[in-house]
Amino acid sequence: MQTLRSWLFVPGHRQKMIDKSPGRGSDALIYDLEDAVPPDEMDAARMKVGAALDAAEGGPQRFVRIHGARHPARGADLQAVVRPGLRGLVLPKVERPEDVAAVDRSLTKQESEAGVPPGSVRLAAMIESAAGLLQAPAIAASSPRLVALMFGAEDFAVDLGLFSFREGGLMAYARSALVVAAASARLEAVDKVYLDFRDPDGLARETQAARELGFSGKTLIHPAQIETVHRVFHPTDEEVESAHRVVEAFEAAPEEGTMAVDGRMVDLPVVKRAQWILRSAPGEGRPGGGTGDEE
Ligand code: COA
Ligand code: MG
Repeated sequence: MQTLRSWLFVPGHRQKMIDKSPGRGSDALIYDLEDAVPPDEMDAARMKVGAALDAAEGGPQRFVRIHGARHPARGADLQAVVRPGLRGLVLPKVERPEDVAAVDRSLTKQESEAGVPPGSVRLAAMIESAAGLLQAPAIAASSPRLVALMFGAEDFAVDLGLFSFREGGLMAYARSALVVAAASARLEAVDKVYLDFRDPDGLARETQAARELGFSGKTLIHPAQIETVHRVFHPTDEEVESAHRVVEAFEAAPEEGTMAVDGRMVDLPVVKRAQWILRSAPGEGRPGGGTGDEE
């Protein structure tokens, strides 16, 4: 699957936001049926999201965040949204591999009822508790449908009893642990939301930190955040030029094994990283996440 840098949450009860969401430019949309929707609006939200999926044509990949594995509303969510326009489900508050396995089983049944190819609906698991984080490697390996782990920082902070959190500290540990768990199963790692949607500089700093930790994308709450995230996840001109020099030098003398480029040692892993950077650059395609099917 193509790497998805921006995953825009769209509240499932907000018709106006849903209507314009495919044109906002994000790589993925997450229509929310969980915490963004007031209980009284839930039935209507399921209808709205179902209709939006039926009308889906090109553009971003459509995901829906359903209720958690132990929530009674989950069955109704699945019934409403498993249909051809759906790319995948975002599972909140995943704490153990069985949470994913349970959805996987219900999905297979629902897919056959909805005329969707069996196994085609993808899953992204949100890690948003201490228990979930400790189980993250096992969760990441729990279903072939999984394409990503996502970090839910707000619920994580509640679970740990944090009044507030900043860059660094416990969140840095949790984010790093999630990235490594995702990578161990060749999944994408998708970072937390940045709540101050009118602060592009703060968002750019947090996204840069996420990129350096190894995240491949970020969850977003507002369309104004898309451009910043795409810019930061794109290799810089300097990185692309340096990668070109590395690849050219290596291709000119592969028998050397190691060599010096720009005063730095180059060997096979350095070349592999340079090739990956070039694949991420414009006109050269985007990096494959190795997360399943190629499209
Ligand atoms: N998805 C799609 N469109 C959105 C959007 C979103 N998440 N957030 C804002 N927009 C649209 C608005 O509808 C508006 O569209 P218009 O100019 O065509 O009328 C435009 O973007 C500007 O919106 P703005 O007025 O700046 O924001 P707001 O006050 O309407 O909404 C929030 C602010 C935070 C309430 C809103 O962004 C939101 O609900 N975000 C998602 C929250 C969520 O899903 N949380 C759960 C996961 S953490
Ligand atoms: Mg949450």
